[in-house]
Amino acid sequence: MCGIVGYIGPRQATPILVNGLRRLEYRGYDSAGVSVWQDGKSRVVRCQGKLQGLVEKLEKEPAPGCVGIGHTRWATHGRPSDTNAHPHKVGRVSVVHNGIIENHLKLRQELESAGAKFSSETDTEIVSHLIHQEFETGAKNLTDAVLGALKKVKGAYAIVVLDDNAPDTIVAAKNASPMVIGIGEGEHYVASDVTAILSETQEIIFTEEGEIVTLRKDGYSLTDLDGKEIERAPQTIRWTAAQAEKDGYRHYMAKEIHEQPRAVVDTLAGRIDLEHDNVTLDGIEVDVSNIKRIVMVACGTSYHSSLVGKFLIEDMSRIPVEVDLASEYRYRNPVIRKTDLVIAISQSGETADTMGAVQLAKAGGAKVLAISNVLESSIPRLADYAFYTHAGPEIGVASTKAFTTQLVSLALLAIHLGRQTGELAPERARKILAELVSLPNKMADVIEHGAQLQIIARRYGKAKGFLFMGRGNLYPIALEGALKLKEISYIHAEGYSAGEMKHGPIALIDENLPVVVLVPQGPLYDKVVSNLTEVRAREGKVIAIATRGDNDIGAIADEVVMIPDTLPELQPILAVLPLQQLSYYVADYLGTDIDQPRNLAKSVTVE
Ligand code: AGP
Repeated sequence: MCGIVGYIGPRQATPILVNGLRRLEYRGYDSAGVSVWQDGKSRVVRCQGKLQGLVEKLEKEPAPGCVGIGHTRWATHGRPSDTNAHPHKVGRVSVVHNGIIENHLKLRQELESAGAKFSSETDTEIVSHLIHQEFETGAKNLTDAVLGALKKVKGAYAIVVLDDNAPDTIVAAKNASPMVIGIGEGEHYVASDVTAILSETQEIIFTEEGEIVTLRKDGYSLTDLDGKEIERAPQTIRWTAAQAEKDGYRHYMAKEIHEQPRAVVDTLAGRIDLEHDNVTLDGIEVDVSNIKRIVMVACGTSYHSSLVGKFLIEDMSRIPVEVDLASEYRYRNPVIRKTDLVIAISQSGETADTMGAVQLAKAGGAKVLAISNVLESSIPRLADYAFYTHAGPEIGVASTKAFTTQLVSLALLAIHLGRQTGELAPERARKILAELVSLPNKMADVIEHGAQLQIIARRYGKAKGFLFMGRGNLYPIALEGALKLKEISYIHAEGYSAGEMKHGPIALIDENLPVVVLVPQGPLYDKVVSNLTEVRAREGKVIAIATRGDNDIGAIADEVVMIPDTLPELQPILAVLPLQQLSYYVADYLGTDIDQPRNLAKSVTVE
């Protein structure tokens, strides 16, 4: 996610802005910039790459002044570049923004047809033009101009705005992206989160959705988007800056588990077309008329999401799908046809084996679609089509929010393909889309019940091994649960198709082996229940992940973790959450290094 910061007071703004941006580096970014007002106008200095590059640029091109705004950009629309970096200045108005403007295509077209000239590929520059337009049509001050502009905007934003003609104020507004206000003595601050300004003040106001604040040196006013005054006392924050970087969570993995509902909202934003029972994939139009087969290549967690993708795509489009480990595909002399669509999934977009598989597929004449979380990373750049999850930077080595946003992206792709082949009826597409929209709330519900997993983790955390079992599209989730546990707790764990138990693994079962069984309501429920009772009959300890309202499962399981009901197609997205939390709490109980487990790297850029 991007980082925003603003300052108005008696001191030079640039050092305060740069220090604030440095504190926001943990959020991940690919460019940075500031806009500082002095002698009648604001001066914008921006730089692609790390913050140090901006600092060096500012040494050559200083930006003096006592009021300014700053930004670290995590690219979602428009590649990382100086011109796409924020702040975006149009006329007298400079803007920094964290979030996604859902209706950016429509607004951009309207602005361009009204004569607006764009200098960047970003959705943010649209906001600058809209505010500029408000002044052109008579807005009497910056607050009113921002209010007028935001009435046209749909989506998530936390913006800070500077007006060359009003150096005594900065205006900030928030909707669905984090933003806090810092209260000082004769000076005020705004930032994405406490981290950026904790070294300046501990008096913080947490803004809510649909609020706008006008900051001056000697005070501030907080209103809703209709201009109604809001009274909210500042809170005194006792966190250390280090604690604040994780928003108070002890580990990035915990923070990222909790960010998943938001990450899914951002990944769905602007891509669901309920009016036509369809989706829009950022302009990607895969021509299914000459696709005879889909081949998915990936590694690790991304391989597991590919396995779920096979179920989704075959079920909705009836296009045959094969899934292969990228490290296997690239060396087995695979059959590659011009009628293949190869889908490469990679959170980092830099995994060497996946890159190798993509290069081989392209050499064989196949079209490649990449699904990645890092804009303009190597694999999407090499692919013919690139589709991005909007999970924001994933710092913890164990992938969580990238995984669930990959699953959501695959559901969108499956709907797109199914509607194209005609195999997915509009009514069914509408039902799945409606459930996708409701999923973030159900995800939050599951995550909020995580304390139960902490108890289970303490009860079974000393086990020598775990087994994870699931059927159908939950078999890949069993694999993912096992991977999560082993990579951060170092306990051996295996994921198995529940139907395979009797073909060998059942020999492992005894009273010392916890077996996690994914057994939500669905077409395979009875089959999994019989596998589960086979485990119980041999004294295995069963930890069941079941559907809330299942009153029978308690009699045949030692532990029951309930998740809300959802469509069978989307169950993997909810079922994985308790497994992420179980692995986190077991690792925490054992005291391993959760965010940077031994021997592992976040991105495996070597073979
Ligand atoms: C997942 O928790 C692991 N960190 C690892 O398996 C990871 O999924 C794998 O290395 C693939 O990474 P990528 O998605 O960036 O390509």
